[in-house]
Amino acid sequence: MSRYEKMEYRRAGHSGLDLPAFSFGLWQKFGTDHPYETQRDIVLHAFDLGITHFDNADRYGPPHRAAQQVFGQVLKRDLAPYRDELLLSTKAGNPIGPSPYLKGGSRKSLLTSLEHSLRDLGTDRVDIFYSHSPDLTTPLEETVGALVSAVEQGKALYVGISNYAPERAHEAAELLRRAGVPLLVHQPRYSIFDRRPELNGLLKLAAEDGFGLIVYSPLAQGLLTNKYLDGIPAGARAENSAFLSPDVIDDTYRQRAAALNGIAERRGQSLAQLALQWVLRQPQVTSALIGASSTAQLDHNVKALDFPPLTEEELALIDEHGVHGTGVRL
Ligand SMILES: NC(=O)c1ccc[n+]([C@@H]2O[C@H](COP(=O)([O-])OP(=O)(O)OC[C@H]3O[C@@H](n4cnc5c(N)ncnc54)[C@H](OP(=O)(O)O)[C@@H]3O)[C@@H](O)[C@H]2O)c1
Repeated sequence: MSRYEKMEYRRAGHSGLDLPAFSFGLWQKFGTDHPYETQRDIVLHAFDLGITHFDNADRYGPPHRAAQQVFGQVLKRDLAPYRDELLLSTKAGNPIGPSPYLKGGSRKSLLTSLEHSLRDLGTDRVDIFYSHSPDLTTPLEETVGALVSAVEQGKALYVGISNYAPERAHEAAELLRRAGVPLLVHQPRYSIFDRRPELNGLLKLAAEDGFGLIVYSPLAQGLLTNKYLDGIPAGARAENSAFLSPDVIDDTYRQRAAALNGIAERRGQSLAQLALQWVLRQPQVTSALIGASSTAQLDHNVKALDFPPLTEEELALIDEHGVHGTGVRL
């Protein structure tokens, strides 16, 4: 079966672009502190599974910029013949250094970062260029203007925003529409344990404004798998990442995760597969943006596409145990 038959592709909002139901992100374990061969295997395996979209940021490492350099090596050595079959995304604006020009939503910061990213990735243009986070100290017109310039200069095909609250996302979408560069996607965090896009109206706004949602950390960084039910396994993210504290793996978490695991088992699937199906059930969610530390995790997770839809009864049970805010910083 070809990679394109293995994967489902979903249209991003009102655009003409299809994204794979699963996108792959290089946020964690793609720095210089992990072996290149494993990183390469994971990227190539993802592509073999039909995951055509790779999400990056100037910030990912450690050190900052390292993950894009890793991807750049794989692109150069293995994936160069497939560049036109890949969607590469990068983001700018989160701090990558102490300089005032290496952070924030200014034109200087965003377009400088994009130059670094193109160099690190070893490509002339990215497919999606994002403002990584809102910068309330910079006029939105300036940030949006930098995104538009990236497209006009041929350095990006589409633009996105990430972590924007609905009101500012709507303003950005309006400014971009007027500039003739429609907002392709918004990248929020969304999972059974983080319901904000439902609660703050972002899901509704995406439908109204016609942009897609590519949702990150749908497994709540691994909390929505069965790996932490009996402690913290060696090498797991909660053992050694600044972004997932072992403190969140307490009795309340374990009780809720075990109940969700039970619902998944009764469906003949794993908690990870249930959690991924759960975000993808929303029509506004174009793609679930996952991470993985092994090819086996990828194989396991993409099988989420093979199960029957969640029923109303199952969704109600998930609501009961999938309490908003469990294990995640809101
Ligand atoms: N825009 C933003 O501000 C922002 C913020 C965060 C992330 N992101 C993007 O979203 C991407 C994904 O984020 P994420 O890595 O937090 O997503 P996630 O899919 O919620 O978590 C992935 C992690 O869970 C563990 N895992 C995955 N499948 C598993 C399985 N079947 N069994 C057990 N453990 C499993 C692995 O960690 P271990 O094996 O290492 O424990 C894996 O790295 C990032 O790479 C980045 O591109 C964007």
